[in-house]
Amino acid sequence: MAGNTGNQPLRRSAWQTLLGRFARTQGDTAASVGLDTDFIDRLIIKQQDKGRGLIELLQDVSEHFGYLPPEAMRYIAEHMKIPLTRLYSIATFYQDFKLKPQGRHRLVICTGTACHVKGAAAIVDLLCRELNISPGETTADGKLTLSTVNCIGLCGVGPVAIMDGEYQSNLTADKALQMVKAL
Ligand code: FES
Repeated sequence: MAGNTGNQPLRRSAWQTLLGRFARTQGDTAASVGLDTDFIDRLIIKQQDKGRGLIELLQDVSEHFGYLPPEAMRYIAEHMKIPLTRLYSIATFYQDFKLKPQGRHRLVICTGTACHVKGAAAIVDLLCRELNISPGETTADGKLTLSTVNCIGLCGVGPVAIMDGEYQSNLTADKALQMVKAL
């Protein structure tokens, strides 16, 4: 699992955003928003019985819900008696953890140096304009989440993208547009 860019600690503003999100959802309990708390209970028991780490627990939650719902995070923190900030420091460190619902399709475009010089940034800009989103966001219809990554080791055939797990090499703006329009 890839770590957050440069292993940088979260900037103050990022923490403030997260804490603001906690505050806004403070009245919501896992049950009140329809989360399957029995499922989470089973995961907690499994985690404790097998001596698994919090990362594995969050991976299971993420796999089940498609992201880490704030109510699930709070439920786990309360029931395991651990600080919520500890869970969020794990969730924000690893890029694979998502804090918002993801689109039905996922397009990841490499914007590492080699792909960048071959035009990746222009492709990302074009898609963002077409889809009316920013990198890391999901289209309003929930169809596609567009994100970027720094080098996936295929620099020689860049720009490179991954659409729903399938690698696309020598990406062009036209090819990228066709891909998203075909969804
Ligand atoms: S910079 Fe894109 S694959 Fe290496």
